[in-house]
Amino acid sequence: MATADIGLIGLAVMGQNLILNMNDHGFVVCAYNRTQAKVDHFLANEAKDSQIIGATSIEDLCSKLKRPRKVMMLVKAGSAVDSFIDQLLPFLEQGDIIIDGGNSHFPDSVRRAKTLAEKGILFVGSGVSGGEEGARFGPSLMPGGNPQAWPFIKPIFQAIAAKAPDGAPCCDWVGEEGSGHYVKMVHNGIEYGDMQLICEVYQIMKEGLGMSSDEMADTFEEWNKGKLDSFLIEITRDILRFKDEDGTALVEKIRDTAGQKGTGKWTGIDSLDRGIPVSLIGEAVYARCLSSLKDERTRASKILVGPTSQVVDKSDFLDALGEALYAAKIVSYAQGFMLMRQAASDYGWNLNFAGIALMWRGGCIIRSAFLGKIKDAYTVNPSLENLLFDPFFTEATATAQSAWRKVIAMAVTQGIPTPALSTSLNFYDGLRHEMLPANLLQAQRDYFGAHTYELLSNPGTHIHTNWTGKGGNVSSTNYDA
Ligand SMILES: *[C@@H]1O[C@H](CO)[C@@H](O)[C@H](O)[C@H]1NC(C)=O
Ligand SMILES: *[C@@H]1O[C@H](CO)[C@@H](O)[C@H](O)[C@H]1NC(C)=O
Ligand SMILES: *[C@@H]1O[C@H](CO)[C@@H](O)[C@H](O)[C@H]1NC(C)=O
Repeated sequence: MATADIGLIGLAVMGQNLILNMNDHGFVVCAYNRTQAKVDHFLANEAKDSQIIGATSIEDLCSKLKRPRKVMMLVKAGSAVDSFIDQLLPFLEQGDIIIDGGNSHFPDSVRRAKTLAEKGILFVGSGVSGGEEGARFGPSLMPGGNPQAWPFIKPIFQAIAAKAPDGAPCCDWVGEEGSGHYVKMVHNGIEYGDMQLICEVYQIMKEGLGMSSDEMADTFEEWNKGKLDSFLIEITRDILRFKDEDGTALVEKIRDTAGQKGTGKWTGIDSLDRGIPVSLIGEAVYARCLSSLKDERTRASKILVGPTSQVVDKSDFLDALGEALYAAKIVSYAQGFMLMRQAASDYGWNLNFAGIALMWRGGCIIRSAFLGKIKDAYTVNPSLENLLFDPFFTEATATAQSAWRKVIAMAVTQGIPTPALSTSLNFYDGLRHEMLPANLLQAQRDYFGAHTYELLSNPGTHIHTNWTGKGGNVSSTNYDA
């Protein structure tokens, strides 16, 4: 009997929690795991006294689903996803929907969307953010793929998603093909950037302003009441307050080498491939790399000389620090949206930028009040060229500017590393320069490699100059097109 609204494959903690979340919202879910004992155990324990049903095979699963069938997979990214798709296909019909809610790399989702579309099956790759807690009580969901699937999954997805403070679900349709997983990847990259910015601010507070962990916690607490209000600021406050058994801050005892799982790196690589300067995420990834060279840094700390630093008076500096953090964050999101805009153009996706900001507004790690402003910007102008051109953000960076420069100048003078904060300002200054020194660079390239250049007065026409009086008459484009 076809009674279930949706089937879910994979009973690891994310899968189980999503099932329970769907059940809470009145949907009948059919649970399947390759290991039958896992299904039985789940039904007898976590899912006891619920409407959740189980399946003993893929065929059984498909037979229990209302049409069009909706099957969501939460299995390990990679070959397991392809394997389940292959197992499902014999039991699915035209118009049925396969949803991959795992951490797939977006090119795989692009490929799956295409091949399944040829078979009449609607594929959705959905970013799921918010961890176990989010999955259980409200994740941020970023579904993209075959648009025909959206009306069928929308009621389930929007019901189980986190809600923004105004009640809007943190789930909307992202766009075509692999765009759901793409946007999730960029989300994770932005998360790297936000975390790195906060860490740099912490180091400035500690080293440059000589603040105690409790004083720092107080500052983050203050910031969390204003425009920096966000999950990461909130947890930073709590971490700084947390005391070890000896009464001192635990955070100061933690070894300063950062781990990473690779999604920030994916974003960095993708930005290089597309030629979009997502420098803040790039610096955040490199900062983790540098942190993990602990032994080399320990030796360097005894060899390499820095400035003689003095503690700066914090009274009038903390506000500036908050402003710098805010401005840097704006630049980071502007870069992230530039990257998504380029990907949309490269793949022909119609990305829902306002929806993306809304999806990140709650449920996920980068949730913040600030994302509401980004949503507003793209709602007013869906084809906004650059977030920094939105009047609110133009004004916000202009207002923050002098504080932003003051903070970075202080860090540079004191020898405190601020790769992400500094790159944000460098990007801002680069973007607002109509003239960059790439004219000289083009001349250099033409000088040594006959790579040609264009004139400001005549763009589109490539010229080679005989710079040395020894040059040949052949430009590199003639033989190296
Ligand atoms: C089955 O459940 C286990 C955990 O109970 C999980 O680790 C595994 O990924 C699931 N796999 C499949 C394919 O259902
Ligand atoms: C480059 O300039 C030198 C000196 O003016 C000249 O002798 C030479 O023929 C030029 N080469 C070409 C390819 O025009
Ligand atoms: C270099 O190429 C230009 C354009 O093709 C030609 O007019 C000129 O005579 C060439 N000069 C030499 C030294 O071959």
